[in-house]
Amino acid sequence: MTDDHASAVPRRAILRGVLLGVAGAAIGAPASGCTAPRRAGQEPRPAASRPATAGRAVLLAYFSRAGENYHYGGRRRLTVGNTEVVSQMMSRLIGCDVHRIEAADPYPDNYSATVERNVREQDADARPIVANALTSIERYDTVLLGSPIWNARAPMIMSTFAEGLNFTGKTIHPFTTHAMSGLGTTERDYTATCPGATLGEGLAVRGEEVAGAGPAVESWLRRIGLLNR
Ligand SMILES: Cc1cc2nc3c(=O)[nH]c(=O)nc-3n(C[C@H](O)[C@H](O)[C@H](O)COP(=O)(O)O)c2cc1C
Repeated sequence: MTDDHASAVPRRAILRGVLLGVAGAAIGAPASGCTAPRRAGQEPRPAASRPATAGRAVLLAYFSRAGENYHYGGRRRLTVGNTEVVSQMMSRLIGCDVHRIEAADPYPDNYSATVERNVREQDADARPIVANALTSIERYDTVLLGSPIWNARAPMIMSTFAEGLNFTGKTIHPFTTHAMSGLGTTERDYTATCPGATLGEGLAVRGEEVAGAGPAVESWLRRIGLLNR
């Protein structure tokens, strides 16, 4: 990874994103956990064939974008997106199916271009197309729903993903990676896009600090009852 401070992103650029509101879609590299990402139209592998965690069938679904990103006021090129790094940690610790949400129209590698596209998508309340939509999450009890924060909320593709599925009776635990916005409005947004779901405790990890997030991830998984050791 390189850290290009010559092209440092002013803090106001992020704040602009926060204030304007953004939306987006993304890419990423698959989490190396329980299962590979699924192709469009495929259903997740039956929970019966997966190791259940504390008797619960768990889906970990996330969106993450590798490439040029914000890093402590500058920029850094990520070969693996921050949210993907956290997702990999989780999937190594618990029994779950993993689904990396991919955009049909991938987001640019360039940070500023991604910010601009996200602003357009948020302003339009867009629903960027998911390339690998799931057809059902019926077999799951718990869904860990992960994304970066883009302009104070989850990228709009998370709304596309959520609205395409029936979350009735499911427990959702949102998790995010971010620069300063924490969980942003994800809890409120998933409450709106996932009717019938119960929103459980979320986890927010600073994007710049994902490499050291293991203890926080483990503590969170214990608190939400997915990790007993
Ligand atoms: C388009 C865009 C908008 C962003 N907006 C915010 C924001 O409003 N608040 C914030 O804390 N971080 C913001 N960030 C920083 C990302 O949330 C952070 O770098 C995250 O860890 C990226 O995750 P990823 O590598 O999995 O995509 C933004 C990043 C991008 C690319």
